[in-house]
Amino acid sequence: MSLASTPSEPMLTGRRIVLGLTGSIAAYKSATLARELRRRGADVRVVMTPGATEFITPLTMATLVDHPVHSDFTEDQDAGVWTNHVELGIWGDLILVAPATANTLAAMVHGGCDNLLQAVLLSARCPVAVAPAMDLDMFTHDATQSNLATLKERGVDVIEPGTGPLASGLVGKGRMAEPEDIADHLEQWFAKDLPYAGKRVVITAGPTHEPLDAVRFLGNRSSGKMGFALAEALAAQGAEVTLVAGPVSLATPDRVHSRVDVSTAMDMNDAVQKIWPRMDLGIACAAVSDFRPAVTSEDKWHRGDVPPAVELIENPDILAGMGATKQHHQRLVGFALESDDGVASAEGKLARKNLDAIVLNSLRDAGAGFGHDTNKVSVLFQGGKSVSFELKSKYEVAQDLVELWRTTLNP
Ligand code: CTP
Repeated sequence: MSLASTPSEPMLTGRRIVLGLTGSIAAYKSATLARELRRRGADVRVVMTPGATEFITPLTMATLVDHPVHSDFTEDQDAGVWTNHVELGIWGDLILVAPATANTLAAMVHGGCDNLLQAVLLSARCPVAVAPAMDLDMFTHDATQSNLATLKERGVDVIEPGTGPLASGLVGKGRMAEPEDIADHLEQWFAKDLPYAGKRVVITAGPTHEPLDAVRFLGNRSSGKMGFALAEALAAQGAEVTLVAGPVSLATPDRVHSRVDVSTAMDMNDAVQKIWPRMDLGIACAAVSDFRPAVTSEDKWHRGDVPPAVELIENPDILAGMGATKQHHQRLVGFALESDDGVASAEGKLARKNLDAIVLNSLRDAGAGFGHDTNKVSVLFQGGKSVSFELKSKYEVAQDLVELWRTTLNP
């Protein structure tokens, strides 16, 4: 059986964002912003000030967010239908005003209520973010700076404008931040509430290649898929993930903080030793070669030069090194691929390498281990507890493990 790996959900899935547009030329960028927020999974409702409707049509915005746009206190004056601004403020997880003009920022400071957007802002119970857009002199003016300082003090998230050519012809600070950057900023903002927010995790993944000569190596068939799935699942839960990857042909998953590519076990060990002291959680998923050739030929061996025997020397045990220097707050998880049921051997590694948990997969189980898109694992903990999972896609296994570690290891 081959289950496809499930990609993680877009980071803003289920987030409800009220997008407020005010009267700035940067309103044209709000179309791209709305589309970007939707692409990342957010449900977006748009409120436009009368000024904003002169720069971009409500029809454009409504089409992009798939909801009617609100720009007036009354929906249908004759029928006496009004726009419930209180409801919008309660509906949103966040109100984002982008672009935010100097005028709207001032109104926010003074509690102005001249248009529907200002009414929504005044009655909002959710957090508010603003992406200012204005001319250089307006932005640097004491009044604007003091308004921004006041808004920040009140907890409003100010997404700083960029520097560059402005609509006035001047060059300087005042351009609304780019839609992609605003969306990234919001992802990070929402990530604060995720279970692994603020946690630093290092994951080793893939095989190592131990060179014999200029072109040949000792290696193994690890694809790196399990480690990469874990990196993706942990990053989706808000962790700051550093992926130390052996030679694999896999793209860095979304939201992974950094990736260090290595080839040999010695390189992987060096990289991990530098990173590990700053981490909260270590996950050793790599299939590290336990041995390397004692001598590596700089040239390619030709048929006549191949030595009759290759002497092997032991590589450092990276995971055991992490276990030996583990600090009180750090948690450490190893993997064990065994050819029998492997429980006794995995328990031995759990103790010997000073781990908090070890994930065991057996080559006996069809669909588990190297080369598959699926895996079937059991997790053994210090103290004897164990949890077993069914055969699943590697991404689903990763999600199960991430949730299990959160509740049991409390990293
Ligand atoms: N590991 C490591 N460095 C090594 C070898 C292994 O970090 N040089 C890690 C792997 O990433 C895995 C765990 O140790 O998390 C188990 O690997 P395994 O090779 O099974 O451990 P060994 O102690 O070498 O056990 P065995 O006696 O089965 O070879």
